Amino acid sequence: MYRLIRPLLFWLPAETSHRLTFALLGLIYHVPGASRLIRHFYARCTPALPVTVMGLRFPNPVGLAAGLDKNAQHMQPLSDFGFGWLELGTVTPRPQPGNPAPRLFRIPARHALINRMGFNNVGSEAFLNNLVRHGKPCLIGINIGKNKDTPLEQAAEDYLKGLRAAYLSADYVAVNISSPNTAGLRDLQNEENLDELLRTLKAEQALLAKTHGRYVPIALKIAPDVDAAQIAAIAELVLKHKFDAVIAANTTITRPGLEKFSVAGETGGLSGRPLKDASTAVIRQLYARLQGKVPIIGVGGIENADDAWEKLTAGADLVQIYTAFIYDGPVIVQEIVRGLEERVQMSGCRDFAEAVAKGRGRTKKQT
Ligand SMILES: Cc1cc2nc3c(=O)[nH]c(=O)nc-3n(C[C@H](O)[C@H](O)[C@H](O)COP(=O)(O)O)c2cc1C
Repeated sequence: MYRLIRPLLFWLPAETSHRLTFALLGLIYHVPGASRLIRHFYARCTPALPVTVMGLRFPNPVGLAAGLDKNAQHMQPLSDFGFGWLELGTVTPRPQPGNPAPRLFRIPARHALINRMGFNNVGSEAFLNNLVRHGKPCLIGINIGKNKDTPLEQAAEDYLKGLRAAYLSADYVAVNISSPNTAGLRDLQNEENLDELLRTLKAEQALLAKTHGRYVPIALKIAPDVDAAQIAAIAELVLKHKFDAVIAANTTITRPGLEKFSVAGETGGLSGRPLKDASTAVIRQLYARLQGKVPIIGVGGIENADDAWEKLTAGADLVQIYTAFIYDGPVIVQEIVRGLEERVQMSGCRDFAEAVAKGRGRTKKQT
């Protein structure tokens, strides 16, 4: 179905077609039974492949990456498409418009996107109202960021506000310090800044857990544009502060193999197929440092079960997709989960986690 209407959607500017798709879905969801019908074709055809990570039981290991549903407005259809969970946001404490349009560009020949959205979002209060009004249909991660006009020295304040606001509604909170579209944000990945930020957030998490009697895990989302020394430093700090997970990776400011595409000259973060190898390399190096003590959520250029398996055997415990969902439509979720289920069956293992562990052993021996 999606593949039929895709030429029309791709004929429109990228952001317009995004808006149009969700407006149409909104209309369809006013028809009684629409959600059930879509679930029937997508979520029900997605095999159960449960896995427990960060103390949460995910029905399958394929989630939606942050940035598609920034304002918690489309959870029901996205959940009906079969995702194991949804990561919403990035949401900032105060609403902000993001960068001027055009700010989203396609490179169809490479199944890639370049975006410089700049955390356009309704702010945490309206976001949480949306979440409550629509109701959580599945496990939800809430991805938090800082406002553009908050000076970097006060960034921790914004993340604290975000954590406090999201705490009771989220199944986990993702701390985004890796968007290339907020000036200076990635400086928070530097050792000294990161040490302080992680300490502050963990202290607040402990306080919130005590107050509310509920522990909500926090994950750190990092950029793919980090060298081996930076990865080692990030891993050390994540272990030191007992962060609950690392999400690798956000979009890249590099343009691998895209020299001949004029759109590659647009400022912003690149996602999709050309990001795949860089993201996998970061996961592999992170895993070598973390040794399974802190789970990794792998994201970047996953288009099929082979790509997902590559991320998992490189060290990821879960995977997320964004760009391939835009290019291939909702059916991609069940295709990936089905492909992973086949691998579990072929491995002769009892479950997904055991099959991944066995796959990692094999990959290590081969390399
Ligand atoms: C248009 C667009 C907007 C995005 N917005 C966010 C965001 O707000 N927060 C975030 O953490 N990541 C954001 N991302 C990054 C994705 O979550 C993901 O890390 C990245 O796209 C790599 O995955 P992919 O290759 O499957 O798209 C965005 C990506 C795209 C394409």
